[in-house]
Amino acid sequence: MPTRKQSVLFPELFEEIQRPKPVNVASVPQRSPFRYPGGKTWFVPTFRQWMARMYPKPSILVEPFAGGGIISLTALFENLVERAVMVELDDEIAAVWESIVNGDAEWLANQILNFDLTQEAVIREIKKPPKSRKEKAFQSILKNRTLHGGILAEGSGFLKYGENGKGIRSRWYPATIAKRFLSLNHVAARIDFRCDDGLKVIQEFTERKDTVYFIDPPYTAGGKKAGKRLYKHYDINHELLFRICESLKGDLLMTYDNAEEVKGMARRHGFQMRLIPMTNTHHATMEELVIGKDLSWMDGFPAVHEPKAGYSVQKTKKKRPNKRLHRIANKPGNR
Ligand SMILES: C[S@@+](CC[C@H](N)C(=O)[O-])C[C@H]1O[C@@H](n2cnc3c(N)ncnc32)[C@H](O)[C@@H]1O
Repeated sequence: MPTRKQSVLFPELFEEIQRPKPVNVASVPQRSPFRYPGGKTWFVPTFRQWMARMYPKPSILVEPFAGGGIISLTALFENLVERAVMVELDDEIAAVWESIVNGDAEWLANQILNFDLTQEAVIREIKKPPKSRKEKAFQSILKNRTLHGGILAEGSGFLKYGENGKGIRSRWYPATIAKRFLSLNHVAARIDFRCDDGLKVIQEFTERKDTVYFIDPPYTAGGKKAGKRLYKHYDINHELLFRICESLKGDLLMTYDNAEEVKGMARRHGFQMRLIPMTNTHHATMEELVIGKDLSWMDGFPAVHEPKAGYSVQKTKKKRPNKRLHRIANKPGNR
């Protein structure tokens, strides 16, 4: 028997809403020597879009929570700014950036190419007290590439199964990592690296109109509290960060977990918000919050709706019947 399909009354309401899809990170040039927990490679296309609409072109990008630094590196390699101020408090990560800036990228590349990676060799190497910043940097890269999730925070263990069952070697691509260090030499002179507190460094630039900020803080309040597991330094004053951001003359973008507490702070400090899809390490699609002064250029992205205004019900005392009026109303002759 032929089945009859019921036609839809308002087909336009049933069309799939075109939401932006998560970025395929394989399409973005990978320039960071780190595989960084919470790394923002997936944000690169949006960052480019933001920078492209700026006139005049900003001179400086400040990245107060640099980590693996993919956003600063993209800005430098693609000549979106003249200079990047990168700030990171973790001393092991800082040693890598300092070595690049101090001209030791080639030394690091050679160390990587000549290291015969086994678990025993890694343990031997990372136990040695480093005699210089560049030695510390090498230890840091080794740990970042062999510890689970690239996490250097306390309690992280070696990759057991890793990629394709290759265990500890599964994230060790010596030729690729060495090449990244060598190419970093092309932009090293334009990096102003500080091992310092990001909140303090941003304030040096408050009055500068030629400066933009990409702010990706560790986030521990509300939500999943993942920041505590991922980073050695995670305890920052988010309210203060928002207050500082409000005072900046230059434009800024912040990325945060999509948490109510964060949305509240963004609203209180007069920022706009959009949601952007990203794929997490478990390949699940999630939405991350983008915060900025004017995000009208992101109009294709879902907006964060303001909470519905609540009705406040005023309590009124139940009126007692007015006996006198009642008597008057019921008086014979007044009925
Ligand atoms: C979410 S991660 C940044 C990831 C980075 N956007 C990337 O693409 O790799 C936050 C970073 O802030 C660093 N950090 C935490 N507190 C800091 C502070 N007060 N000042 C500077 N860096 C800090 C952490 O060590 C961590 O590397």
